[in-house]
Amino acid sequence: MTTRTGRHFLHIPGPSPVPERVLRAMDMPVIDHRGPDFAGLGKAVLEGAQAIFQTRSPVIIYPGSGTGAWESAIVNTLSAGDRVLMFETGHFATLWRQMAARWGIEVEFVPGDWRRGVDPAQVEAILAEDRAKSIKAVMVVHNETSTGATSRIAEIRKAIDRANHTALFLVDTISGLGSAEYAHDEWGVDVAVSCSQKGLMLPPGLGLVALSDKALAAAKTATLPRSYWDWEDMLKPNTGGYFPYTPATNLLYGLREAIAMLREEGLAEVFARHQRLAAATRAAVEGWGLEVLCREPSEYSPVLTAVVMPEGHDADALRTLILEKYDLSLGTGLAKMAGKIFRIGHLGECNDLMLMAALSGVEMGLKAGGVPHARGGVLAAMDALRSGIDD
Ligand SMILES: Cc1ncc(COP(=O)(O)O)c(C=O)c1O
Repeated sequence: MTTRTGRHFLHIPGPSPVPERVLRAMDMPVIDHRGPDFAGLGKAVLEGAQAIFQTRSPVIIYPGSGTGAWESAIVNTLSAGDRVLMFETGHFATLWRQMAARWGIEVEFVPGDWRRGVDPAQVEAILAEDRAKSIKAVMVVHNETSTGATSRIAEIRKAIDRANHTALFLVDTISGLGSAEYAHDEWGVDVAVSCSQKGLMLPPGLGLVALSDKALAAAKTATLPRSYWDWEDMLKPNTGGYFPYTPATNLLYGLREAIAMLREEGLAEVFARHQRLAAATRAAVEGWGLEVLCREPSEYSPVLTAVVMPEGHDADALRTLILEKYDLSLGTGLAKMAGKIFRIGHLGECNDLMLMAALSGVEMGLKAGGVPHARGGVLAAMDALRSGIDD
């Protein structure tokens, strides 16, 4: 076994590294979740989560993962046989579609090449054709973690409105929230799902769902069976800061701290920092003479960058070498991207030097692995990070 010194560099696109401050905040005794002290914590995280989603509507926090939050969005708003519109932006859109189909939802799944987000014009065209308004929901992944392409949620909302359509707008911002700009109320999203282990900088274990009045109204008539994920069961005790069953108390301590960190920095600054780190990463990829998977510059992800491997070279062999030699974890290519791409996560508490360390690891790995590339990616990233500061 290799002896490792120093710290591990976790640069997968979630789970993201948990900041020291959040780890310390979670190091607390478990308290009675039905006792008087809990209500303060419960209210703080439920209200704080509203600020992060930028909504005045309720946010629900489940012990669970993002996949659970997906299911919550489906079972509370839809009925068996309902028609929904989804887009093949990548692996996660494909999995959400599969879940909807398993619930007996009829999914119109628009094919895609996994290199871009959803085209708002296409949304408008499809909805405009649906004169009977039989499409009950448009379901979009905001930040496709498998490809590093974002979908333009505000523009898709406008497209739905231009088509004068009544469909609900359900958004997976699982890897977007807290990293990529997201404004729930302003963008008119009805249900947004997220989780703890990405931009919120927590360990895995929480699923979050932001609602709207329209989503709450839909929940009253939707007929899919639901129990654990039922919004009504949650919302009643939540008004007092409580949960209907045992919450993940220590993760909530961490969430309170993570929300405080995001608010201290300022959401606009958090989003700008992610954009800047992403731009530097792309500068490195270009410097290496490699290709970014996302083909649409307006859809480049601020959360992660997926890098296409040169023909005949295996991305997972490179990732394995980099992990063994430099103790740096990079994201694997998922499903049909397996072996073809690797993903660099630059989300959460990431700063300039953390990114530079990761990019150095990649450049050293490319050299050690005999992968054809130009030297100078790291230099290009440094220049990108410095530009505007001391130039
Ligand atoms: C965009 C997206 N959706 C859904 C999921 C599934 O979330 P979880 O693994 O927390 O269940 C992920 C996980 O990485 C994701 O990135």
